[in-house]
Amino acid sequence: MENKWKRYTITAALPYANGGIHLGHLAGAYLPADTYARYRRLMGDDILYICGSDEHGVPITLGARKEGITPQQFVDKYHSLMKNSFAEFGISFDIYSRTSNKIHHETAQQFFLDLYNKGVFTEETSQQLYDEQEKMFLADRYIMGTCPVCGNEKAYGDQCEKCGSSLSPKDLKNPVSVLSGNVPVMKETKHWYLPLQNYEPWLREWILENHKDDWKTNVYGQCKSWLDGGLQPRAMTRDLDWGVKVPLPDSEHKVLYVWFDAPIGYISATKELKPNDWEKYWKEKETRLIHFIGKDNIVFHCIIFPTILHAHGEYIVPDNVPANEFLNLEGEKLSTSRNWAVWLHDYLKDFSGMQDTLRYVLTSIAPETKDSDFTWKDFQDRHNNELVAILGNFVNRTMVLTHKFYNGKIPAYGNLTESDRELIASIKVAQQNICDSLEKFRFREALQELMNLARAGNKYLTDNEPWKIIKTNEERCATVMYLSIEITAYLAQLMQPFLPNASENTLKMLNLEKKNWSTDLKGQLIHPGHQLNEAGLLFRKIEDEEITAQVEKLKANQKQVVIPQETSSPKLPTSSIISYDDFSKLELRVGTITAAEKVKKADKLLQLQVDLDTEIRTIVSGIAEHYAPENIIGQQVCIVANLAPRKIKGIESKGMIMMAEDENGKLKFVMPSEAVKAGSKIS
Ligand code: 2FM
Ligand code: ZN
Repeated sequence: MENKWKRYTITAALPYANGGIHLGHLAGAYLPADTYARYRRLMGDDILYICGSDEHGVPITLGARKEGITPQQFVDKYHSLMKNSFAEFGISFDIYSRTSNKIHHETAQQFFLDLYNKGVFTEETSQQLYDEQEKMFLADRYIMGTCPVCGNEKAYGDQCEKCGSSLSPKDLKNPVSVLSGNVPVMKETKHWYLPLQNYEPWLREWILENHKDDWKTNVYGQCKSWLDGGLQPRAMTRDLDWGVKVPLPDSEHKVLYVWFDAPIGYISATKELKPNDWEKYWKEKETRLIHFIGKDNIVFHCIIFPTILHAHGEYIVPDNVPANEFLNLEGEKLSTSRNWAVWLHDYLKDFSGMQDTLRYVLTSIAPETKDSDFTWKDFQDRHNNELVAILGNFVNRTMVLTHKFYNGKIPAYGNLTESDRELIASIKVAQQNICDSLEKFRFREALQELMNLARAGNKYLTDNEPWKIIKTNEERCATVMYLSIEITAYLAQLMQPFLPNASENTLKMLNLEKKNWSTDLKGQLIHPGHQLNEAGLLFRKIEDEEITAQVEKLKANQKQVVIPQETSSPKLPTSSIISYDDFSKLELRVGTITAAEKVKKADKLLQLQVDLDTEIRTIVSGIAEHYAPENIIGQQVCIVANLAPRKIKGIESKGMIMMAEDENGKLKFVMPSEAVKAGSKIS
């Protein structure tokens, strides 16, 4: 098939620099984009895979406030964490940049000025919500209240996470400032708006007519409902101090809206990488722009950013936006605030060298058409029963037998049977199907095709039993082994976008080089007389204990992390406001630690006995990295005494120790200023 595209600009959503990268992020955007980018490189295409940290917006300023550090310190910390995890995991970005860079500020400001000078924006003065105590306008997530659509009492000023409605602060009922907990007042301010409604005819034609057949139905459907709902002007500036300054007079305390500046980050990162020829990746119509994102970013990448690009006039718009749905974890919605997440930096520590396993599992269960669920048990099963038992086993059997029978030198083959010819044809079919599926962003399907080829290889060996016929029919055995090695060679090449490390290891064993898929992946890849290198195992088995440890870690961390973060910043009711009745349900007491020991096979946990006067409580607490057991006997602590008991590592924990987190992430006991009697009530 002739490729009409001359080059590809592939982007993956810029993650907010306010935490680590978790499996939901990977499955949603970074892994499919990486598989696709690797595929395009193998096809010999001119591509750029662009990403970086999104370092502005309320998620950053709120996060910094919560940790008691400056926004710059905050983004520096999380930018490094995310950049390093991506690199170690092997995401093949051509650049991983950041939006606090000078080049980004200049690019975003120039873009804004270009639109301003073209008369694209409308200027409006209006009444906005203002926190008098904090002396701040309350944009986006600085405000919480009741969603006018579904009644969720914890909706944010920009979005209700329960029903997905996009909101503006004034839509909320009973709005409350997230900073002070106060009810805001109204105050006048001026902003610049993008009149999205004027672009509706263009958007309708571009999306609803031109991309009816090639965009995913979930993406197309969301765009249609936005367009059918009627578009409203959207403010492109905010009254804040952290962000890209509005490049206009009298705008000292105004910055660009984060969703204006962040996607321009794709452009500034391209400029940073290719200072002399970045424009062709953004301005030539033969360039195919593809945005990989999660479903919560659809409106920004399909409606708002394309309108900005189109209104500017010099830029191309995305040709596709293959957004994924969400990945759940152990049957529950992933939640960073509850720490119900598997963090990539933790995975890389616990499963060192097993990047391909995570790639394999996340691609197998990719939420391409609907939400999907990651469970540790399924992770183990897919690894052991598929990667080890099917792919690894086939490669290993083939390598070992070739060494055993022929000292690793590929034998000359004899006459081909009908089933041999069918097998050869199936290699070609698998190759074609993999390419077709990848072209359509169907990564699960493409991976299945790859595994089916490994299955066919295993079946071929089992049906032909070379270990038996070596004694009776040497020529037939040589043919069977030759064809098995040929399949292994194709597998090694075709594995590349999905399992880059296993591919490299198999190619090394085969003593072969990587091939260009569009020009060199045809005909025989292996010839008689070729010498193989030593055989090695591609994958080790994952044991039950490793999985149990992960599930327990997930549960233990979920409980321990949330409380310290919230108690450390009492001025910041960032989750929600609770009623006095809710508060009075908590039974908080002072206790004295009478015994402490490490919990076996759990680096972070201590088992404590806490004296509450009327009883001694067993409490398991995630403080082992912060306190040695021998140093805390006699320590007074505050505990949540009426928390439902919970089994942690087989120990029933009855209550929770309250901890405060310092600026270095160290946990400290919360305790009365003077010793009080064990069991004293806290009110
Ligand atoms: O949802 C998010 O995490 C945003 N930071 C994504 C931004 S994508 C792009 F616009 F930069
Ligand atoms: Zn809602």
